[in-house]
Amino acid sequence: MDRIRIGGGNKLHGTIPISGAKNAALPLMIASLLSEDTLTLRNTPRLADVRLLQRILQNHGVDISTDGKRPGQIGQCGETLRLTARTIADTTAPYELVSKMRASFWVLGPLLARCGEAKVSLPGGCAIGTRPVDLHILAMERLGASIAIEAGYVLAKAPKGLVGNRIVFPKVSVGATHAALMAATLAKGDTIIENAAQEPEIGDVAECLVKMGAKIEGIHSPTLKITGVTSLHGADHTVIADRIETGTYAMAVAMTGGDVMLQGARPDTLDTVLDVLADSEADVRRTNDGLRILRNGAGIAPIRVETQPYPGFPTDLQAQLMALMTKAKGTSLIRETIFENRFMHVQELARLGADIQLQGDRAEIRGVEKLTGAPVMATDLRASVSLVIAALAAEGDTTLHRVYHLDRGFDSLEKKLQNCGADIERLAGQ
Ligand code: EPZ
Repeated sequence: MDRIRIGGGNKLHGTIPISGAKNAALPLMIASLLSEDTLTLRNTPRLADVRLLQRILQNHGVDISTDGKRPGQIGQCGETLRLTARTIADTTAPYELVSKMRASFWVLGPLLARCGEAKVSLPGGCAIGTRPVDLHILAMERLGASIAIEAGYVLAKAPKGLVGNRIVFPKVSVGATHAALMAATLAKGDTIIENAAQEPEIGDVAECLVKMGAKIEGIHSPTLKITGVTSLHGADHTVIADRIETGTYAMAVAMTGGDVMLQGARPDTLDTVLDVLADSEADVRRTNDGLRILRNGAGIAPIRVETQPYPGFPTDLQAQLMALMTKAKGTSLIRETIFENRFMHVQELARLGADIQLQGDRAEIRGVEKLTGAPVMATDLRASVSLVIAALAAEGDTTLHRVYHLDRGFDSLEKKLQNCGADIERLAGQ
């Protein structure tokens, strides 16, 4: 397996192009199941999860083509995917594929809406928590589907099609909101989704569905109103910039010091994160084509943050913020309210010399003068990049193992950091 070596101590200067959002690209690709026409997705990030989802969708019968590199295209800009689900060849999403990437469970809604049936493996838990799907099932049952759970699979049927209804989520769920929204576009009649997730990626998917002919009101709000239509046509959509990648690199610059332009970033999708970065005394400047982050000389001020659904501080940036706070001038507090086990980066950060005390869903981070490079192990996607951030500001070399976690969510990470002066390289697997 590949490893990454990082020599700490370099400031970051230059420009980082921000890729399309993984957490928009995945549901957008799944939305192609809703139409027999071609859905063109531009600025799709080059990620392992995107390639895996392509295989899963091809198993359902979706034809997928990608554009090669165009003359003058810089290496790190996104890919164009063309997805055509002319017919659905198979309504089963098998365990061996779904267990590798839980977002593939989200095919449930579109398959039910398009074919009136679906057999989708339960995704199972993962490193950060049990990850139940009861809210997905609630939504499908509210739309008239009959659901059975057998031998680790969700068997869903709606032979007469789905029927619009009022869906009230008892808690906010990004995935269940995506599933309900996509299914409702082809249901008979009106659907109201209350307590819907408001993450920008939901809005991006909703805007794409509207381009495909869906009738959706209340986009970017907690209440979505969908009027079902009989079919959806193709569309051409550009994937929204990745706010988690943006926040990650912003925290890397705040950690090492320097001056970096995050090109193509959407600061408007990161207000809470940018407020926290400003509180930590990083210099955050919104520009017309992205975001500029500087920290020269000023120390890192401690913060108190708790993760919340959007527009609160995102759980997907919690590990990265914790890495930044390991060298703050004081004690910080971070509370993780979304997932029950999302502190696995703590013991790895401690190997680099961080001083972090855990108490249930709370972490107390006492800033230290110095971190020291060491071998560390990635445990999940966002935890792995928090180790990169800490290693960039540690003395000496750090070797990060199990970097396949990184490749799931960060397009060309080493190249983007090398181009800004980081001493980072990928060591081919042994
Ligand atoms: C999405 O996961 C993201 N994944 C996650 O990003 C992100 O951390 C999460 O939303 C929260 O923002 C993608 O977009 C592909 P949820 P999802 O349903 O939809 C509980 C990353 O690193 N819940 O909003 O699975 C659940 O256990 C990944 O890119 C139920 O109880 O998250 C959690 O505590 C990690 N029942 C909370 O809700 C359900 O049916 C929020 O989960 C569904 C969820």
